[in-house]
Amino acid sequence: MKVLIVGSGGREHAIAASVAKSKEVDQIYCAPGNAGIGQIAECVPIGAMEFDKIVAFAKEKAVDLTIVGMDDPLVGGLIDQLEAAGLRAFGPRKNAAILEGSKAFSKDLMKKYHIPTAAYENFDNYEEALAYLEKAQFPIVLKADGLALGKGVLICNTLEEAKDGVKSIMLDKQFGSAGNRMVIEEFMVGREVSVLSFVDGKTIKTMTSAQDHKRAKDGDQGLNTGGMGTFSPSPFYTKEVDDFCKEHIYQATVDAMAAEGREFKGIIFFGLMLTDKGPKVLEYNARFGDPEAQVVLPRMKNDLIEVVNACIDGTLDQVDLQFEDNAAVCVVLASEGYPVSYEKGFLIEGLDAFQDKEGYYVFHAGTKQTEAGIVTNGGRVLGVTAKGADLKEARDNAYKATEWISFENKYMRSDIGKAIDEAKEN
Ligand code: AMP
Ligand code: GLY
Repeated sequence: MKVLIVGSGGREHAIAASVAKSKEVDQIYCAPGNAGIGQIAECVPIGAMEFDKIVAFAKEKAVDLTIVGMDDPLVGGLIDQLEAAGLRAFGPRKNAAILEGSKAFSKDLMKKYHIPTAAYENFDNYEEALAYLEKAQFPIVLKADGLALGKGVLICNTLEEAKDGVKSIMLDKQFGSAGNRMVIEEFMVGREVSVLSFVDGKTIKTMTSAQDHKRAKDGDQGLNTGGMGTFSPSPFYTKEVDDFCKEHIYQATVDAMAAEGREFKGIIFFGLMLTDKGPKVLEYNARFGDPEAQVVLPRMKNDLIEVVNACIDGTLDQVDLQFEDNAAVCVVLASEGYPVSYEKGFLIEGLDAFQDKEGYYVFHAGTKQTEAGIVTNGGRVLGVTAKGADLKEARDNAYKATEWISFENKYMRSDIGKAIDEAKEN
């Protein structure tokens, strides 16, 4: 069968690597892909938001299945457009992708269906938002309603900061039209865990847990980024937490979407905060996490295509989803200066060291193939993932593998997965 993957990051490379292992797949295309994906798939120069071109390409090549990895095309309705053209596609339709596309929608959904989350109010009026802040407790969290490249969340410690934040979201449009509405919510304290799941409209099967490190610098300091590394499983995701989430969050979310006439098929990513009052939902995403996918998918035992097909066909209840009883750590190699400003175009050396090394992966995010070789082409350049018998071994292996790669400007955090040691001490 022929599979088309839509996207161009480390997540799509991890998806492509899993798809490539499937016995059912003969040909993989990726739009637009990147230099690493190009080693296992045919990359086509079509942007993820060029829906007409994607549909035309899938028809021309008689693609059997399109997997959409990114949030923007899902929220924009690419699945609907593919289906309307008679093509088979994996991901939520537009009316379900709103679970990620509108934070105000997802908060109202959780409130209506009693799914635990931070207390909040939605605003589409600047003056009313300011008035609300006068009575609020600090710190407080401001969120632009729409998609904002993962950057639309401001945590404000004082009234002044919060007023400035509301102004920059609603008036100055720091996040563009994503800030036409906003959510103001209670600040929660706790440990964050990411749980990805497959959903077929009725049944939900969760994958192994993961945790990402969003801040640029060691010790969770510095600016928020798209993610500087991940580890899986999270030692904080205990059986007790899992039981609670199964009872109050996972199936409840799928049932709520169905009850709203927004049947969800695809991936739901639950961003959870483990608070002292129990787990609460921080956010939903309607796709695999990046870089979570880079530690979760390598540990999955099932054939990804079989699971994806079961989601589309509504037969996920018949799938026995299984993960290896080990651990994985992903360290992102970035360009110095990310996420603010950085240079690119530097030659990357050492990529070949990963070839045929069982349990080691180098997923490309911002890279480009040139005549001179593969060069850096973004803030996050590569995700180096390694497995190990446990998290400590996986972390040692991942950091060892980061040394195989060199490029000018290479920057990484040195403490990815360090929380694991804390967990052991407690
Ligand atoms: P989100 O895009 O909603 O996941 O928010 C990005 C990050 O902001 C989260 O991963 C948390 O670290 C933080 N955050 C979001 N909402 C809250 C909250 N209510 N309380 C504390 N931190 C939050
Ligand atoms: N790693 C967080 C995300 O994919 O949104």
